[in-house]
Amino acid sequence: MEDASILRTHDKKKHTHIPFIGRLSVSVSISNSFSFSALLRPFYASSFSHFNFIFITIMNTLYSFIQFKYLLLSLLLLPLSTSSSASAYIFSDGEISSRNDLFREILRDEAVARLNELGKVSDADGYLERTFMSPASLRAGNLIRGWMEDAGLRTWVDQLGNLHGRVEGMNASAEALLIGSHLDTVVDAGIFDGSLGIISALSALKVLNVNGTMGKLRRPIEVIAFSDEEGVRFHSTFLGSAALAGVLPVTALQISDKSGVTVQDALKENSLEITEENLLQLKYDPGSVWGYVEVHIEQGPVLEWLGFPLGVVKGIAGQTRLKVTVRGSQGHAGTVPMSMRQDPMVAAAELIVLLESICKNPKDFLSYDGHCNDISLESLSSSLVCTVGEISTWPSASNVIPGQVTFTVDLRAIDDMGREAVIYELSNQMYKICERRSVSCIINRKHDANAVVCDSELTSQLKSAAYSALKKMAGDIQDEAPALMSGAGHDAMAMSHLTKVGMLFVRCRGGVSHSPAEHVLDEDVWAAGLAILAFLETQL
Ligand code: GLV
Ligand code: MN
Ligand code: MN
Repeated sequence: MEDASILRTHDKKKHTHIPFIGRLSVSVSISNSFSFSALLRPFYASSFSHFNFIFITIMNTLYSFIQFKYLLLSLLLLPLSTSSSASAYIFSDGEISSRNDLFREILRDEAVARLNELGKVSDADGYLERTFMSPASLRAGNLIRGWMEDAGLRTWVDQLGNLHGRVEGMNASAEALLIGSHLDTVVDAGIFDGSLGIISALSALKVLNVNGTMGKLRRPIEVIAFSDEEGVRFHSTFLGSAALAGVLPVTALQISDKSGVTVQDALKENSLEITEENLLQLKYDPGSVWGYVEVHIEQGPVLEWLGFPLGVVKGIAGQTRLKVTVRGSQGHAGTVPMSMRQDPMVAAAELIVLLESICKNPKDFLSYDGHCNDISLESLSSSLVCTVGEISTWPSASNVIPGQVTFTVDLRAIDDMGREAVIYELSNQMYKICERRSVSCIINRKHDANAVVCDSELTSQLKSAAYSALKKMAGDIQDEAPALMSGAGHDAMAMSHLTKVGMLFVRCRGGVSHSPAEHVLDEDVWAAGLAILAFLETQL
């Protein structure tokens, strides 16, 4: 079912995955000014403009060319990919040589095995679901804790359920490098979102441990598996990372889930006593932290288009989540005449179609002077995306006109002012529709995170690390890792309130994520581990 729908919506060619092996002689590097809008257009494509068409045509041609080259190289290297030797082989300047600095067993084989193992830790039967403080989250935490200890880290769990593993290195009082991602998942998730960042960091640290170089680290390194990034259970994302960054309001502890259990109760059920005071104490002292780095699957198609396994992140789109509650008049489906209904279901349908219209064509709804400046409006046109992912009705029976309909809105854009303007206009128009339909409408703002710009120094260090990793694997490469914007939210957004942040993206098949079809090549998991290892080696 999943595969069929993906094939319907994706070009089959784009769905093919290109392994990164061998030398890339086609220039796919992108200049800074070009990449920002150009890369986002196909990613966010809300209208298929002339520009998009030209861009996609060029990219496809480039892609085909790279694919052809890779095909040849794949054939050349095919016999090697099944090698069971402990040391990896690489293709270098026409010669095949044996290498022992690629740590294939730890960075690829073990990392992939761990991803698969963690991907089975679920609260649901038959699909992956791990929400904040659920039984599966606790089991996943225990598993990761063992891997942290295996990498030589001292571990602990904080009062918000975040799992930490730390090594002090040579100077325990130096500013620490934090590396992390989240252990929670969406419902019916893929196995890489969040887990890849945790596992690649632990694999790289394990290599340092095995090498005996861990004690030579100039600063403490702390890996954090955050307890909540997806916000599935409480509709408030980044509970874990926001607490450590000191931006989680105390009111967040009283947010309740569908069953009325609050964040505080959920923690207490698991023997984690969180109070207003100790929430404040969870905040890291900014003076004790050097920076935050996160590895994550791209969750979009750009790296695959470019034929590049790794990319760096320039910035992350801002996001808002709303909960819209529409109340009408509950009644009998057979007896209330159509003209006399106050049906919240059809009102909700109209509201959702309005949302789609605004988000597809913001220029038709917002004006330069009344709402936001022309820069914001232009940016919205290429980056605004809106989703209604959850809807519930009461009492939810086929022969009852509902009394209440509730739905969520997830709204993202690169430009914060533009996002505010959209929410303002959307709310105004939603209230008007509800008035016309004689239903009541409440719009609750559940979550906000402003767009984040990644630190240029960290980004260039990650770019060099990615280059060095790929060079080791491929023998020689001529291009540096591309720089992308992220439409997905990440713990790095919350951590940016504490310290400078940098992110490394890993190519995924077809750009698919938040789906069991999510897939990362074993070789790309390996590349990510090698890149983080190269980055950590700069701290020796
Ligand atoms: C997290 O995956 C998000 O962007 O919603
Ligand atoms: Mn996610
Ligand atoms: Mn994620």
